[in-house]
Amino acid sequence: EQQPDLVVVGSGFFGLTVAERCASELGLRVLVLERRHHLGGNAYSEVDPETGVEVHKYGAHLFHTSNEKVWAYVNRFTAFTDYKHRVFGKYQGQVYSLPMNLGLINQFFGKSHTPQEARELIASQASEIATEDATNLEEKAISLIGRPLYEAFIKGYTAKQWQTDPTELSADIITRLPVRYTFENRWFSDTHEGLPVDGYTAWLTRMADHPNIEVRLETDFFDVREEYVGKVPIVYTGPVDEYFGHAEGRLSWRTVDLEESVEDVDDFQGTGVVNYNDQEVPFTRIIEFKHFHPERVKTHLPGKTVIVHEYSRSAQEGDEPYYPINTAEDRATLLKYRARAEQEPMVLFGGRLGTYQYLDMHMAIGSALSMYENKLKPHFADGSELE
Ligand code: FDA
Repeated sequence: EQQPDLVVVGSGFFGLTVAERCASELGLRVLVLERRHHLGGNAYSEVDPETGVEVHKYGAHLFHTSNEKVWAYVNRFTAFTDYKHRVFGKYQGQVYSLPMNLGLINQFFGKSHTPQEARELIASQASEIATEDATNLEEKAISLIGRPLYEAFIKGYTAKQWQTDPTELSADIITRLPVRYTFENRWFSDTHEGLPVDGYTAWLTRMADHPNIEVRLETDFFDVREEYVGKVPIVYTGPVDEYFGHAEGRLSWRTVDLEESVEDVDDFQGTGVVNYNDQEVPFTRIIEFKHFHPERVKTHLPGKTVIVHEYSRSAQEGDEPYYPINTAEDRATLLKYRARAEQEPMVLFGGRLGTYQYLDMHMAIGSALSMYENKLKPHFADGSELE
């Protein structure tokens, strides 16, 4: 069998962007290896056959970007709806509109405040602790927004996310806790936002739809690495520690358990995402997917809805790695893997797992476009070293 010009490990947004550019622009034959039974990485979604609702199988994915280059690129493969993300949070029997803003402050403190009055209130509550004296996450948060808002909207949620009391978490985890002194409640403030009109999987499938791209599913790179390493250029988007057999130790991740169910109501919670801020409630949030696509109401089965309860915990071997924990030890370990990665002949590491970084979709795509422009294109055009 003829060798491909390039092997891409992983068919998420990073891998598919690299594959698409190299195939379409340079005419290269690209082999994409994917160990799951489907392409698309964590942005993959499926339409639930019973209800007709599109479910994001690895957690809710909302697309947003202010990067014009990325926006132009993604629009080649999909149109976007005008969905604008909003998040609500439950606390002690009340529902508040997040992120923390003037509406939330008025509701929480039970009276109306002008923007100026709200600023003064929060500043006086935050003066309890000076930010530079904060020794842990709890103290830092109180120094930024005051104790009442911290205890309602940060404490329980953070404790559940990290499964650790915030007094035991590092103050560095948060740098700022934005409070808006307006009623604006859009979650993202990027120039462009929306959801792919016919779903994530259609979008991702179109990226791979090129005669020079072969996606080989259910194929683990580690079962076939001898065929390619050192022989063909490789872009690897799997976990960097796994590539090196965890020789420098394991990088730590948080995972999320997603409990999907079909409920016998037309509308479960009236919106896409509700956070649960009370510490006693074991899950962090509930996603109700039909609300991401109000324009599809005719294709959704009436009287039913798909919801997902999310439970956060630290990942063990075999769990899906979702968010880097990034302790001081992780950062030291990552440096060792980076040094090894630089020595690896003809292999480039990219994507969220390959670089141990949380990347939004637009960041993964943007970073893949940069790798293409700065490394792959020069290499294939004039034979410059791949490093
Ligand atoms: P991704 O993980 O998607 O793809 C890597 C692929 O490599 C996987 O398919 C994996 O199976 C494959 N692979 C790994 N090892 C392999 C091996 N040895 N052999 C073969 N294949 C292998 N972003 C955003 O913009 N808005 C949002 O709302 C969200 N929401 C969100 C929720 C949750 C819970 C998470 C974890 C993440 C998000 N994201 C997000 C981020 C988004 O998921 C992320 O940007 C992309 O998945 C990054 O794409 P990558 O290609 O880097 O990795």
